[in-house]
Amino acid sequence: MTKARYTVTAALPYSNGPLHLGHVAGVYLPADIFVRFLRLKGHDVAFICGSDEHGAAITLRAKKEGITPQEIVDKYHRVLANSFKNFNIKFDIFHRTSSELHKKTAQEFFTKLNAEGKFTQLKSEQFYDEEYDQFLADRYITGECPNCHYASAYGDQCEKCGSSLSPSDLINPVSTLSGKPPKMRDTSHWYLPMEKHEDWLRPWIKEGVLDGEQQHDPKKWRNQVVGQCMSWIDGGLKPRAMTRDLDWGVTVPIDGADGKVLYVWLDAPIGYISATKQWALDNNKNWEDYWKGDSKLVHFIGKDNIVFHAIIFPIILKEHGGFILPDNVPASEFLNLEGDKFSTSRNWAVWLHEYLERYPTKIDELKYTLTAIAPESKDSEFTWIEYQNRVNNELADVLGNFVNRALVLTHKYYEGIIPEHGAFTTEDLLVLDTMKACPAKIERLLYDYKIREAQSEAMNLARLGNKYLADMEPWKLQKTDPDRVKTIMYVALQITGGLSVLLEPFLPDTAQKLRRFLAMNGCDWESLTIDALIKPGTQINSPTILFEKIDDDMVQYEQALLFATKESTEAQTVVPQKDLVEFDDFTKMDIRIGTILHAEKVKKADKLLQLTVDTGVDQRTIISGIAEHYGPEEIIGKQVTVLLNLAPRKIRGVESQGMILMAENSEGKLCFVSPESAIEPGSTVR
Ligand code: 2FM
Ligand code: ZN
Repeated sequence: MTKARYTVTAALPYSNGPLHLGHVAGVYLPADIFVRFLRLKGHDVAFICGSDEHGAAITLRAKKEGITPQEIVDKYHRVLANSFKNFNIKFDIFHRTSSELHKKTAQEFFTKLNAEGKFTQLKSEQFYDEEYDQFLADRYITGECPNCHYASAYGDQCEKCGSSLSPSDLINPVSTLSGKPPKMRDTSHWYLPMEKHEDWLRPWIKEGVLDGEQQHDPKKWRNQVVGQCMSWIDGGLKPRAMTRDLDWGVTVPIDGADGKVLYVWLDAPIGYISATKQWALDNNKNWEDYWKGDSKLVHFIGKDNIVFHAIIFPIILKEHGGFILPDNVPASEFLNLEGDKFSTSRNWAVWLHEYLERYPTKIDELKYTLTAIAPESKDSEFTWIEYQNRVNNELADVLGNFVNRALVLTHKYYEGIIPEHGAFTTEDLLVLDTMKACPAKIERLLYDYKIREAQSEAMNLARLGNKYLADMEPWKLQKTDPDRVKTIMYVALQITGGLSVLLEPFLPDTAQKLRRFLAMNGCDWESLTIDALIKPGTQINSPTILFEKIDDDMVQYEQALLFATKESTEAQTVVPQKDLVEFDDFTKMDIRIGTILHAEKVKKADKLLQLTVDTGVDQRTIISGIAEHYGPEEIIGKQVTVLLNLAPRKIRGVESQGMILMAENSEGKLCFVSPESAIEPGSTVR
């Protein structure tokens, strides 16, 4: 029977920043494991990814960094591609949506659909920032989420509850450019009438049936994917604009569409197709085999991308005609980090490229931990303690310990030559039979996208092997019953060989090392079911330690780094502007330069100094909360800014007749606001 062909895509990351562990655990690592497994099973696979180089996320970043969008995408495309390569995530192609081939592909899609009347051109009102004189893309608008009331939801989606939004859904929307509420202005766009597609989407998503034919197995679709889609459909699909008023993106290829580009959520998934075309050109393949022929299309994504991949893109593909629809959309929930959500803006993240710079040899350690905690069906959490525990207690103490014992004893007893076995005991047979049953069990899980459970099953074999050796204690028997030891070691070595195959999708570097130790050629998934996976008489190589233990210093260093960068980012956050005041209100304040004549600590108040200030008007007492920043002696004679006419207040029994104005720096230190050079006390500040 010929094996199914697969087209596996991993969500195109925006080329506007590096990857953090949340992205890796949710999308790229499970996709890579799945593809490695498919290849082991002999499927023909195209594994497609690339950088998503259009959309407001890019232009926003360019504004922030003060460089052009092209410079931004060039920079981050390199960062992303290197991170994937260094982490041993092996796409067949990592393409770019800024390429000419992509532009042509996306424009052809749009032109065909438009010519066939699949879009409706509608006049509409759209948010406009009058200060910046531009229409606002969804991402440029933030406000309160109508579903979960998160205060900083984006105009296209709420990062807290994952729901997809339109800017007009937001409560109290604000432009991220000017910080002001945007105004509505007339524009016109090409809309996809999604409501026309409800009738086929329902049975296709829920039952996998399209035009009366079974297209996919709905039991294999994750609950959250079906749930989110059905709640969208049940809520009534609405027309969605497929174009935007922006100057960065794939231009709309029709007359009268000046200044308009394709909506990034139309453009990006077509990027999967253009990437496949480029890969096919480079590798002498036919791209249509992977999109139009008999292939299973699988999109690995995060939960914030569900609607685009399971509703909007399928509508586009079906309307175009000739394309296959996804066989599955394995979407992950979110990974949290040390008790909080990953956040780029708050720098609450472990960045993959930084991890790889610090620990270039600890690749499988991170892969293992991320898969063990993968947020497949619910949100999960990465902590450095968990990483340490997984590496030390599972990789080092179970897998590493077992393999090391098996190989070291083989060298010690038989100079590295695999022994012949004698009669098997019940225990031996149980272990060997369990191993033989492993591939079927693990492949069932992998074909069902239960990647976390599949890895755990593979590790169970290492657990079994470790327990087997600990129970059999060959080191005790060697003197009294060397023949029995040969059988035990033979069994342990078969298990080691089995692990080198079963772990291949999850821990490819480790699996390869095991095969090198065992002098195995190639990696055959079906080989575990045969009787002698590694033949007696084979000379094996000396092992090296598979996994170093993670010490407490590393954990503490990483935790400290995380908290330190978060604190400094938070301190740098500029407080938003307050509400406007009238000039008359401002002139009511009497602000003067004064000179500090005397200063002393206020008893039993760590933060307060009692000052006598020459205000030009008089000499008066002011209590100021600066004692943690200045000693009394160092500020005598200092010229400072004073709010004179603040109503007097009693503080710790002393009347304070005004306020010293201070600026707070990013470390929280209070600094005086003083004149450049000496000036008469009483000079006004305005
Ligand atoms: O959410 C994101 O990061 C998008 N760049 C994903 C795009 S996936 C696909 F459509 F290309
Ligand atoms: Zn929300």
